[in-house]
Amino acid sequence: MTPLAQMATEVLNTADGRAKTALSHAHAAAWRAARAGGAQPSVGAAQPPLHPARPENPRLLPPRDVPRRKPSTLDGRIAMLHAVAHIELNAVDLHWDIIARFSQVPMPIGFFDDWVKAADEESKHFNLLCDCLETHGSYYGALPAHAGMWQAAEETKDDFMGRLAVVPMVLEARGLDVTPSMIDIFRKAGDSQVVAALEIIYAEEVHHVAYGSKWFHFLCGRHDLDPVVAFQDLVRRYFHGRLKPPFNEEKRAEAGLPPDFYWPLSEAR
Ligand SMILES: [Fe+2]
Ligand SMILES: [Fe+2]
Repeated sequence: MTPLAQMATEVLNTADGRAKTALSHAHAAAWRAARAGGAQPSVGAAQPPLHPARPENPRLLPPRDVPRRKPSTLDGRIAMLHAVAHIELNAVDLHWDIIARFSQVPMPIGFFDDWVKAADEESKHFNLLCDCLETHGSYYGALPAHAGMWQAAEETKDDFMGRLAVVPMVLEARGLDVTPSMIDIFRKAGDSQVVAALEIIYAEEVHHVAYGSKWFHFLCGRHDLDPVVAFQDLVRRYFHGRLKPPFNEEKRAEAGLPPDFYWPLSEAR
């Protein structure tokens, strides 16, 4: 089997969203099959690109230039789905990137199991949202999207714990805060396909945050660090701006992220 870090880099170097996620699913299945047979497949090393390959469309704009539309209209809801599809495509790359970029850090095999599983799920999320867009006569790439999505990855490219703090424990945890109200919008609009897709995403994202918290704590143990202090230092270093309440305290707690981690970061500083 190709070493995992190389498989990760192949996904990062694939531009088209459907092709990227198909390769992601195939690589995840190969890893799972090898692990189910009791193997300890090689992680190896790789040189991931600083920026993953992306399709020609969507056009990427600074966040303030991405048009906002009201969720009370169908166009507004399509724009919302498009924005979430864009987040999911970035999430696919973020999950493979952490595997490839930090492959020199010795980690238990369970770390790679978790990240491969999450990458596989992000690929499913992207495809579910693309299917919803297509049901509504649109597609991923039809609208402009947010250009700043890879910033967190770039800023933490040399800091493994910083990456865990900012990506799963801040950005993906934010997804837990905002998804229930998004589900409500589509439920009120009677759009059962989108509600079903978002419910799958919501359930699975809890695990992604939990993987982040689990391995962040593991590394704090290895380096003899206080997890709360280390988390807050890293978020202050790499995340610009404060965390925005209201927080989904229940789901965050379920994911191993208690309030004393994030509440202090929500205050003006
Ligand atoms: Fe996702
Ligand atoms: Fe996720």
